[in-house]
Amino acid sequence: MATSSRLHQDLRDHVGADALLAAASPDWLVDNRQLYHGAAAAVVAPRSTAEVARLLAFCHGRKIAVVPQGGNTGYCGGATPDQSGNQILLLLHRLDRIRAVDAANYTITAEAGCVLATVQEAAAAAERFFPLSLGSEGSCQIGGNLATNAGGLNVLRYGMTRDLVLGLEVVLADGRVLDALQALRKDNTGYDVKSLFIGAEGSLGIITAATLKLFPRPRSYATAFIAVASPADAVRLLARLRAGSGDQVASFELIPRVAVELTQRHIEGVAAPLDDPSPWYVLAELTSTRNADPLAESLADLLATAAAENEITNAVIAQNEGQRAAFWRLRESIPAAQRRAGASLKHDVSVPIAALPDFVATASGWVAQHVPAGYLVAYGHIGDGNLHFNINANDAGSALLTCEPEIKRAIHDFVQQFGGSFSAEHGIGQLKVAELERYADPVELEVMRSLKQALDPHGILNPGKVLRA
Ligand code: FAD
Ligand code: MLT
Ligand code: ZN
Repeated sequence: MATSSRLHQDLRDHVGADALLAAASPDWLVDNRQLYHGAAAAVVAPRSTAEVARLLAFCHGRKIAVVPQGGNTGYCGGATPDQSGNQILLLLHRLDRIRAVDAANYTITAEAGCVLATVQEAAAAAERFFPLSLGSEGSCQIGGNLATNAGGLNVLRYGMTRDLVLGLEVVLADGRVLDALQALRKDNTGYDVKSLFIGAEGSLGIITAATLKLFPRPRSYATAFIAVASPADAVRLLARLRAGSGDQVASFELIPRVAVELTQRHIEGVAAPLDDPSPWYVLAELTSTRNADPLAESLADLLATAAAENEITNAVIAQNEGQRAAFWRLRESIPAAQRRAGASLKHDVSVPIAALPDFVATASGWVAQHVPAGYLVAYGHIGDGNLHFNINANDAGSALLTCEPEIKRAIHDFVQQFGGSFSAEHGIGQLKVAELERYADPVELEVMRSLKQALDPHGILNPGKVLRA
């Protein structure tokens, strides 16, 4: 590695004087959960795909590692450089142009550094809808969403980020630019190369722009907060609402009572929508693109039948936009409330929906018996079979954190037993590399390593993330 001032001068010469930042903000060197602290040899914030390409060509030639960072909201330490001080931190936030909105084609082309909320707003301005929605949407970037294949609150209706992509522009490890920014719904011309970079967490290429699918804007909503006795009843209710509503369910989130209590305790202005306590709740939302669609009436009818069959114990339907926003605020505040409540262990798991009740019973039984230092806060996107099976510490946290390896092993082994995934939507980063090695099919892991070798022979792209360096 050249001396720091020599490296900085070379970067100014090769990439552009303006792209090199004077110093790294401490916020860029630590991950969102504060699990990883790193250092950077230099911080580069390009303004164009050409500048990213020049940076990578330079780094490829010198075998210097590059760590891309979007909004730094990821949960697996994927955007944090290691502690060597030899890696270059590549910030994408200046690639922030909406290149095109094509309302007739229902597509938007956005640069990687666009904040997700900005993409949603640009779509709305053209009377279209971009459905990706996460609690972090005010700060995560579309490039980060693509790199993690983010999920979120609307997957049930619209799919994961991968399902929303038509085209990508990617800078490869050696600086070549892959221009696959098609805006086509039909394109069977050989391998789907662009899909390799979605969910690769910056380990195969740097995403610089994407062409994404848009949809008609929802104009009617019906949102209910529903008390259920068990996850099994929630799963039955999901099937009832999907079939009975003409498949208009856009979101279906499971919330345990403890999460409602945590949000009330730690987040200002959150109120419990239902007075009587229930072990579990569901936040369900139906949407329609028709104006004044009587969704609330059909939801009320479906809930009345569900109540008559003892599938639910109580429910309230939002009567106006303020109430709807309050239900969603409660749901989206759970991660912040959990964080304020103290140390926690996160397990982002999925199983086939039908297996979810048995998985919850088995794994929560194990936690109750073996984890006296913590309590379960299991919530999330049950409509996708995805739960955040998190455990909060009863006290300062050290007793819980000491047991983390055993707890993680037990929960992830249960997940595997039920045919599930130990990382449903948050990715691998550096946090779950060993889990991937343990649970992935060995042949799939070999294919991943071959792809890494083929696309990044010097191992300069986000080394140690997804795959061991
Ligand atoms: P970063 O954290 O900056 O980076 C994530 C990974 O992508 C890193 O490996 C990084 O190197 C790589 N990367 C970033 N940009 C690029 C690029 N342009 N090209 C190549 N690689 C790149 N996630 C969900 O899936 N569902 C949720 O519901 C959800 N809710 C959340 C709620 C909160 C409050 C928070 C804090 C996080 C939540 N997340 C959720 C996690 C997180 O927001 C997502 O993983 C998001 O997609 C990360 O985007 P980012 O721009 O912050 O990426
Ligand atoms: C969520 O669904 O709220 C997030 O994916 C989980 C989290 O932020 O912990
Ligand atoms: Zn989630």
